[in-house]
Amino acid sequence: MNYNDLYKESIEKPDVFWKRQVNELKWHEVPKKIISATEIWNNWFEDGKLNMSYLCIDAHIENGHGDDVAIYYDSPVTDTKLAITYTDLLYEVGRLAGGLKDLGVKKGDTVIIYMPMIPQAIYAMLACARIGAIHSVVFGGFAPHELALRIDDCLPKLIITASNGIEVNRIIPYKPFVDEAIELAKHKPERVIIYDRERGVEYDNTDRDIDYGVLIEMSEVIPAVPVKSTHPLYILYTSGTTGSPKGVIRDTGGYATALKFSMKYIYGMEEGDTFWAASDVGWVVGHSYIVYGPLLNRNTTILFEGKPIKTPDASTFWRVISEYKVKAMFTAPTAIRAIRKEDPNGDFIKQYDLSSLKYQFVAGERCDISTLNWMEEHLKVPVIDHWWQTESGWPMLSNMVGVELLPVKPGSAAKAVCGYNIQILNESGEVAATDEEGFVAIKLPLPPGMLMNLWRNPERFNNSYLTKFPGYYFTGDGGYVDEDGYVFITGRVDDIINVAGHRLSTAEMEEIVSSHPAVAECAVFGVLCEIKGQKPMGLVVLSSDNDKNDTEIEKEIIQLVRSQIGAVASFKDLKIVKRLPKTRSGKILRKLLRKIADNEAFSVPSTIDDVSIIDEIKERLSIKI
Ligand code: COA
Ligand code: AMP
Repeated sequence: MNYNDLYKESIEKPDVFWKRQVNELKWHEVPKKIISATEIWNNWFEDGKLNMSYLCIDAHIENGHGDDVAIYYDSPVTDTKLAITYTDLLYEVGRLAGGLKDLGVKKGDTVIIYMPMIPQAIYAMLACARIGAIHSVVFGGFAPHELALRIDDCLPKLIITASNGIEVNRIIPYKPFVDEAIELAKHKPERVIIYDRERGVEYDNTDRDIDYGVLIEMSEVIPAVPVKSTHPLYILYTSGTTGSPKGVIRDTGGYATALKFSMKYIYGMEEGDTFWAASDVGWVVGHSYIVYGPLLNRNTTILFEGKPIKTPDASTFWRVISEYKVKAMFTAPTAIRAIRKEDPNGDFIKQYDLSSLKYQFVAGERCDISTLNWMEEHLKVPVIDHWWQTESGWPMLSNMVGVELLPVKPGSAAKAVCGYNIQILNESGEVAATDEEGFVAIKLPLPPGMLMNLWRNPERFNNSYLTKFPGYYFTGDGGYVDEDGYVFITGRVDDIINVAGHRLSTAEMEEIVSSHPAVAECAVFGVLCEIKGQKPMGLVVLSSDNDKNDTEIEKEIIQLVRSQIGAVASFKDLKIVKRLPKTRSGKILRKLLRKIADNEAFSVPSTIDDVSIIDEIKERLSIKI
């Protein structure tokens, strides 16, 4: 197989290309229509019917693989290891689906899942899929306020949660957070199902609460309900450029087809291999490559409840790879930077047999060349940087190792994945020249698996992605393409930052900072961070009538962001300044602020209202003048 030919076919004859992939799945009704236009977009496999939970579990059992391990749960924070077979998975998922049905959850209802990295989180996702309920997993690092925003947008019939999560050695009380979020939200879900981890976390029980154990004890395994290909499998909220998150809707048939394709052709995984995505079920990586992708492809997936360091040390990743014979692993560069800091010479790596590992994949943020080189040197396998986002659901740029391993170019996420007609456009929407930096856009139509729409907000969908360059999907990233067709992603061109692989909105942080009564105006922007890649920094101008001291205010604002978004925002750097640099029309020059903070070369824009402010800011950020 050759990458160029396969890619060409996927762009020139998408219907032929994807019809072939359709046959890789066991549909309840095989689609005859491959791609069909809608008013705003295109649907995939419109007349097909399938069920994701069936494809991830029952289909493998029917083919004689019931005793194969579907999930290894490895939890250094609780000292637990479990091997869950496909037969076990059917028993757990089928009964929970039965329990949900008994509680009145129907096809098309929404269910929020707010859970730590425990098998019950995966059971909950697959149980929803089994009955056609649309799940929305909310990352456990988000605070009650963020959860409340999502409750009010997706209007769940019920919430599935756990008593608590565990962050290294700290108990995070999930159930109390859910109660607080429901208190804050306008919409009140009918029920809350709680999986009690029996770690001594106390929580109130109300009439709407039901214990997970009690629920499944009373229920029976129920069969999967076939749904239309275009039926939403999930809503996943992600940061946009305003304070409210965007609810990305994923279909079922297009997504299943794309994931199955990606496991084989991007990740090079044969059925039966072990795959490990060291992420969290709350992120898109967790949805696609902890849960659905590997299970669809009959791979063993690993559910790891730990951190790259501190659980107990920087050897954990290598222990897991060797213990479960992982063939391909996926993590964020930030995790490797954290490991490298603790173990610069890779001494821990040498203690483990990593002969099963064939590829190391990284994504979630730009992979700096030094980290990539370090991994290659110590792991001695190709390190594949690949690029995608919540909206795409699967990689858009990658070295497709299952097709043909192309030479790795450090700093580049390689070439367009089959189905994605990626173009670099300049400000006027023309295709940029080779090596010229521009906006990364994808010419329509897009391949299966991409978002269908934004939940209850088609207008925002249109404005966010389709209006900047008519005929193209705009990714929000900047980049350039070299003479060999390798694409280099240079970073977001909007107010989104990537902190330790977590996507966050600086606009949302600004909204929260501004809500503090002492703040007259503020700017939040991303600055370089050795381990996390980026971290947020805030500059605030105080209102004249405020009588608190600066340190007190700084602490209050930092705490405000932590309590509203969550610890995951990592908002710890805040400085009080007298003024902020602005254009004559009053727009804050955030890009300039970021460059000053990062000690990067910059030119003072001609539109600035007062040049003298630059020295003041430099001084405040302790940059040598
Ligand atoms: N529940 C509750 N709190 C959480 C959480 C969760 N699921 N995840 C993170 N947090 C908290 C952390 O405990 C930390 O709290 P603190 O400020 O009180 O210490 C805060 O959020 C920031 O977390 P994080 O950004 O993860 O930083 P860290 O210093 O704890 O760890 C790394 C740094 C690099 C080890 C860690 O960020 C990491 O493993 N990153 C990889 C991320 C990843 O895989 N992303 C998936 C995208 S592919
Ligand atoms: P998320 O939606 O959380 O997956 O974040 C998506 C964003 O992360 C992208 O739009 C990019 O800005 C960034 N990103 C993801 N992977 C990469 C990568 N390999 N290289 C550079 N940036 C990346």
